[in-house]
Amino acid sequence: MKTNIYNCTIIELSKHHSDRKGNISVVENDKTVPFEVKRVYYLYDIPGGEERGAHAHKELSQLIIAASGSFDVVLDDGTIKRTFILNRPYQGLYVVPGMWRELKNFSSGSVCCVLASRPYEKEDYIRDYKEFLQYKKV
Ligand code: TYD
Repeated sequence: MKTNIYNCTIIELSKHHSDRKGNISVVENDKTVPFEVKRVYYLYDIPGGEERGAHAHKELSQLIIAASGSFDVVLDDGTIKRTFILNRPYQGLYVVPGMWRELKNFSSGSVCCVLASRPYEKEDYIRDYKEFLQYKKV
């Protein structure tokens, strides 16, 4: 998979401010994100010091949003690693296929919301780092 770290970017989401009543951010298919959202899931109640992820996807694109609190996403394209600190509910990290990712430093009560381009497919995961490096070479 010929993707690299520079294909992954922070996308600013629309933010509608309602005076003293809070905010609303919106994600729309093929408008906010360059894919059609097929699945949404979220991580929550993550114990302090816990890390998630440690895998790559072959075909899946994702938008990762810190819907509440903050956490770090370390992306690795097999050559270059980059850490994105997510702490704004109106920003999303667009992650292309073929990126090893690790999620860490979750703040207490944080919620990691993920919008995904495909249904859950076990066979789309690469969970072994050496296998990932091999996959990126071909
Ligand atoms: P997993 O992707 O391994 O979590 P992480 O890598 O972020 O720690 O998913 C954990 C469990 O949840 C695993 O048993 C599969 C299940 N799961 C689903 O059934 N559907 C989904 O869409 C996702 C993301 C996970």
